[in-house]
Amino acid sequence: MDKLAIIGGRPLFGDIPISGAKNSALKLFAASLLTDKPLILTNVPKLADVDMLSRLLAELGVDVVREGDRATLTAAAIASTLAPYDLVRKMRASFNVLGPLLAREGKAKVSLPGGCAIGARPVDLHLKAFEAMGASIELDEGYVIATVDGRLKSARIDFPFVSVGATEHAMLAATLADGEVELNNAACEPEIVDLANCLIAMGARIEGAGGQTIRIAGVEALSGATYEVMPDRIETGAYAMAVGVAGGEVTLRNARLDLLGAAVGSLREAGLSLEETGDGLVVSRAGSRCRAVDIVTKPFPGFPTDLQAQFMALMATADGTSSIRETIFENRFMHAPELARMGAKIAVNGQTATVAGVARLKGAPVMATDLRASMGLILAALGAEGQTIVNRVYHLDRGFERLEEKLARCGALVERVRGDD
Ligand code: EPZ
Repeated sequence: MDKLAIIGGRPLFGDIPISGAKNSALKLFAASLLTDKPLILTNVPKLADVDMLSRLLAELGVDVVREGDRATLTAAAIASTLAPYDLVRKMRASFNVLGPLLAREGKAKVSLPGGCAIGARPVDLHLKAFEAMGASIELDEGYVIATVDGRLKSARIDFPFVSVGATEHAMLAATLADGEVELNNAACEPEIVDLANCLIAMGARIEGAGGQTIRIAGVEALSGATYEVMPDRIETGAYAMAVGVAGGEVTLRNARLDLLGAAVGSLREAGLSLEETGDGLVVSRAGSRCRAVDIVTKPFPGFPTDLQAQFMALMATADGTSSIRETIFENRFMHAPELARMGAKIAVNGQTATVAGVARLKGAPVMATDLRASMGLILAALGAEGQTIVNRVYHLDRGFERLEEKLARCGALVERVRGDD
């Protein structure tokens, strides 16, 4: 398995191009199943998760052609409505093929994704939404078997709490419904707006995406479209925090401040300057160290859970004590003991971590269990004294495009050490 070797203590100067958003691209890829015409996506990040979904889509009959950051997805005919355990287990977002298959073919058999390193992550809200639209759902040997007679139907769906995945999944399926589907207490994340805009470009009738109520008036068929994936807000936030840890000044090309929600206020409070220019965001740190700031993760526009691990790394060397509360996932502090191995002072009590900032961390061999936690360790390493070896780089390859190249071009000493297997 590959590792990253990082020697910390060098400030970052230069520019980093921000890639297309992983969590948007994955849902836009699933949207290709809704039409027999080509869906052309640009600004597609080159990531292991996108490759994995491409493989699943190919099995379902989608012709996937990738050239650079452009993907042409043509589902002229659906060859199979089965998404097997192997592919869904490795990447939960694969579950999102269920809704489009059900809407287009009237049936789908998709493996239940199961739990993962950050929590149980059930899909009950997804399934209830499809039932409300007239589908029958059966669970059999770890698979969801969904069927509908004719088209999905009108429904009013009141989500009991905010779910990004359930909102996106219901929206995908509802585009081909016979009638209007209203989603209440919908997620407001920028990825929902991106998906809605792409679906609208394909001929869907959607109003209200980005707000708490979304109305989708179903159409009989969707067409193809050409659509550019929005910039990755989590990658943006992570590199901004890298400057917070290491110091320096970096321009994040294509980054958008409006996608960061409450994280903008927290980062500024911590002592970072974030200035929007014509083609991105200039980030710099005032002073030699960031200040401690308390955060609570919340659905958008609150502080994103996907930046919590990176923020903890930033707070590990901030001046003062901060409190970090995780409210989205029940088990998302696995990076805390790894950061502690580098000298961080972190006390975890239930869903709250108290971080007493220290002047300097020390390099150590570390390992994380998920993508964002691994990025937290990378940030910590950039500010640490000596060498840090981050193991299990495959987590990072799932969600951060050309990570070591992007950091190295700003002066970081980062090297990939190839594993044997
Ligand atoms: C998306 O996951 C993202 N993944 C996550 O990013 C992100 O952390 C999360 O949204 C929150 O912003 C993708 O977009 C591929 P949820 P999702 O449904 O849709 C519970 C990353 O690192 N829930 O909003 O799965 C759930 O367990 C990943 O890129 C149910 O109980 O998140 C969680 O506690 C990690 N039943 C909460 O709701 C359901 O049916 C919010 O989850 C659905 C969700």
